[in-house]
Amino acid sequence: MEFDLAGEHQKLAYKLLAGLVTPRPIAWVTTQDTEGRVNAAPFSFFNVLGTRPPIIGFAPGDKEPGIPKDTARNIRRTGEFVVNLVDEATAEAMNLTSAELDEGESEIPFAGLHLEPSVVVKPPRIAESPVALECREWSTMEIGSNRLVIGVVHRLWVRDGVLNPDTLLVDSSVFHPIGRMEVPASYCRTRDRFDMPRPE
Ligand SMILES: Cc1cc2nc3c(=O)[nH]c(=O)nc-3n(C[C@H](O)[C@H](O)[C@H](O)COP(=O)(O)O)c2cc1C
Repeated sequence: MEFDLAGEHQKLAYKLLAGLVTPRPIAWVTTQDTEGRVNAAPFSFFNVLGTRPPIIGFAPGDKEPGIPKDTARNIRRTGEFVVNLVDEATAEAMNLTSAELDEGESEIPFAGLHLEPSVVVKPPRIAESPVALECREWSTMEIGSNRLVIGVVHRLWVRDGVLNPDTLLVDSSVFHPIGRMEVPASYCRTRDRFDMPRPE
C-alpha cells in the first residue's frame, strides 16, 4: 500500500505513522504555569536526540490551530520542564494524566501521584517515576499544528536499583519501561530482550 501523507492522505497520517513507528518511549512531562500550578501529560512523539549536549525532543500537537496544549504553553512561558519515564508500575497513572481536566486542576492528585522537588528547574518530578530528566527548553519549533520542543537535559535522576552501581548499565530485571504501540490504545512491555553486538 502507498500513501501520500503530505497530500491526499494527510488525514491518515496520525493513524498510520503512530501505528507503524513503534514502539515509542513516552515522555511524561511535568511543567508549571506562571502561578506555579503543576501540570503532567504524556507524549509519545518523543526521543533522546543527542548527547553533546544531552538533548531530547517531544511534540505536543496544538489543541486547535494556534492554541498550544498546556504543556507546550507552560514551557514557552517558563522555559523549564521535567521528562519522567513511564514503567509498568506507572502506566495506568500516566494514562490518567492524559485526561482533559478543567484549567488549573492538577493531574497529580487526580492520578494519585506524588511530587519530588527538582534541583535545577522549578517544575517538580513525579516521585513514582523510575527516571526523570530535568530540562531547559532550547527551542520550540512550530511546524503546522505540531510544536517540536527541544530541551537540554541538565539533571538525570535514576531510582536506586535501576543502574548497576559499578558499571552504570541498566539492570533489565529492575527497569521495565513500557512503549507506545498502535492506535488507539496499545502498549508494549519490554521484558523480551536480545543482544546483538555491532559488527567490528
Ligand atoms: C501514551 C500517550 C501518548 C501521547 N502522546 C502525545 C503526543 O506525542 N503528542 C500530543 O500532542 N499528545 C499526546 N497525547 C495526548 C496528551 O497527553 C493529551 O492531549 C494531554 O491532555 C495534553 O495535556 P496538556 O494540555 O496538559 O499538555 C498522548 C497521550 C497518551 C496517553
